[in-house]
Amino acid sequence: MSLRTFILGLSASFGIAWLTVVVVPYFKMRNLAPIALSEAKDGAKGFFYPKRTGRIADGALVYAENGCYQCHTQVVRPTYAGNDLYRPNWGGLKSDADRGDTRRETNAYDFFGEKFAQIGVMRFGPDLSNLGRRVETEYAAGGDPAAWLYERLYNPRNNPKLWRSNCPPHPFLFEKREIKGSPSADAIKVDAGENHELIPNSDARALVSYLLSLKKDQKAPAALNFAPAKKDAEN
Ligand code: HEC
Repeated sequence: MSLRTFILGLSASFGIAWLTVVVVPYFKMRNLAPIALSEAKDGAKGFFYPKRTGRIADGALVYAENGCYQCHTQVVRPTYAGNDLYRPNWGGLKSDADRGDTRRETNAYDFFGEKFAQIGVMRFGPDLSNLGRRVETEYAAGGDPAAWLYERLYNPRNNPKLWRSNCPPHPFLFEKREIKGSPSADAIKVDAGENHELIPNSDARALVSYLLSLKKDQKAPAALNFAPAKKDAEN
């Protein structure tokens, strides 16, 4: 083999992979235009555009700062890449009280309005695409979803069922205060020592707003319906 063929072969092996895995997806997804909903097919007007502003956007930064994305993904994989839809309530709810089966795969439009699409580095803990939905309907059903998340953030192992949890505790997101007068309504239900209470700081509040906003199961427009078994508008 001549040096020339060797160099050409080498460039082609790396170049083609780079083009198909990096360059093509970048140009396809870097500037997505919102999809207009069609009244006939989707039964709704307007645009498919998840709301992510204010404290939710701040919370996304806290999520990034604390490296949650290192262990948690936010991608419910498409079937061709290894189906995730069978996992309990990862892609949505199997039987939502109002909307029935809301499970669906993640699409690029789910990350609209987010500065970074925090798809995650590896999947050490559960996928969080629909965490907000799970907390509200399952983990903290009937209770206060935010309180459930605060207690977990403070230390997941406080829950006897999770005594071996590998999700790191985040006590630095809480302020320990002496109780003066009556205890604060914001204090979390964790023992902070005699006459003391633990109050979530502004980072914790933003993070919890963000986590509760994680509901990537709203009806996807028919234009994005790639699931062959499901008909348009039933997605
Ligand atoms: C070192 C890896 C790791 C990091 C970093 C991490 N987690 Fe976890 N997380 C886990 C594991 C493992 C579980 C599963 C065990 C459990 O439920 O505690 C988990 C579970 C969870 C759950 C429960 C999800 C469910 O549906 O049961 C939430 C919520 C959560 N993590 C939030 C966070 C947040 C927020 C951060 C960042 C502040 C974070 N995690 C950082 C490993 C991690």
